[in-house]
Amino acid sequence: MGAYQIQGGRPLCGVIPIHGAKNSMLPILAATLVTKGECVLHNCPCISDADAALSILQNLGCRTRREGQTLVVDTYSACGTEIPAVLMQKMRAAVIFLGALLARFGQARLSHPGGCCLGSRPIDLHLLGLRLMGAECEYEGEELACTVKKLRGATIALPFPSVGATENLLLAALACAGETILCNAAREPEIDDLIGFLTACGAEIDGVGTSVLRIHGGKRLHGAEYTVMPDRMEAATYLCAAAATRGELRLTGIVPEHLRAVTEALLRGGCEISQSMRELSLRCSDLCAVSPVRTAPYPAFPTDAQAPMMAAMATARGVSIFEETIFSDRFRHVPALVSMGAKITAAKRCAVVEGVPALHGATVTATDLRGGAAMVIAALAAEGESVITQTEHTERGYAELVQCLRACGARISITE
Ligand code: EPZ
Repeated sequence: MGAYQIQGGRPLCGVIPIHGAKNSMLPILAATLVTKGECVLHNCPCISDADAALSILQNLGCRTRREGQTLVVDTYSACGTEIPAVLMQKMRAAVIFLGALLARFGQARLSHPGGCCLGSRPIDLHLLGLRLMGAECEYEGEELACTVKKLRGATIALPFPSVGATENLLLAALACAGETILCNAAREPEIDDLIGFLTACGAEIDGVGTSVLRIHGGKRLHGAEYTVMPDRMEAATYLCAAAATRGELRLTGIVPEHLRAVTEALLRGGCEISQSMRELSLRCSDLCAVSPVRTAPYPAFPTDAQAPMMAAMATARGVSIFEETIFSDRFRHVPALVSMGAKITAAKRCAVVEGVPALHGATVTATDLRGGAAMVIAALAAEGESVITQTEHTERGYAELVQCLRACGARISITE
């Protein structure tokens, strides 16, 4: 288990090229299974979640190889329909293989996916949609067994625009005879990216960017070459780090529009931000509280940026209030920030952050991917030394974190 050692108190200044998006790459890797042929995916970050997705594909009989940031997946020889629990446990996105397996083989057997502990993370909406398409989904002990002779098109109204359910149902709908209409679908940019990949493979999907998706199923999909979109959460994290350390950063290779809710909040906090087509620069000399920060589905403030923003607000002038509406237990980073001197009280879905003049170093344990990132941000801003343990959480989602931060003047090293 790794740890970061950070000497804080220095502004983060420089340029960071943003990697490909984890939450786009993972469903696209699952989607390769719906095609028969070779897919070449560019801009795939080297993170442990990518390794986990590749292990699943290999276990199902696919051939995979990495060439730098490019992943090549040949799904022609895929034959397996079961994913062992040990692989399911590695990440939440493993559940997206369910829709892909049903579309390809009409059967799937898997257990509940792992991933960050953010409160209860059921998959009832995924199953609701798959059953409407004709699939039989039954739990046998810890395992979920799904079978279908022939998936059929359906009209599915999701009670909540779940990202994962939208992805799973999109993939299953590709094999449906006829049209599937998915209402109240998630509108996150990663969904558009998945549709972009599927379209490149020959799929016909209308409504991209809206909450009503129409999938014209039954087409034979071929392999394709595709470039994964930039990671808006990696970008949001570095912006919060620059604000927290009163630094100056330029992010390259991004889509500024994807970050609008985050940049609007930072602007309200007094940061200076300028942007062009693919770049965004932030300068922060003084930070004031932003309130309320209320997480909600895209295009509202993203739940994944809540913890990093809270770390920045820990030393802002004034009181910020955070409301988390997506996950029931996503303030697990708060005790660590408090041990670094932050004044935060959290109860249920609300957290009140009273800005303090400075944080101090401490030894803390990463609780989850974004919570761990928040601790890194707080440590970069804090006076003195911090140690953050269990960095396998951050390694799941941030490629070359230490190198990127060091290149911008941070004193951070990896310790065992
Ligand atoms: C995706 O998770 C992301 N993960 C998460 O990113 C992100 O926080 C989340 O979407 C919201 O934007 C990946 O893309 C791999 P949901 P997902 O289904 O698909 C409830 C990160 O840090 N729900 O939209 O699991 C659920 O419990 C990660 O990169 C049901 O009740 O999110 C939650 O409260 C963490 N039943 C809410 O909906 C269901 O069947 C949102 O979940 C499905 C979801």
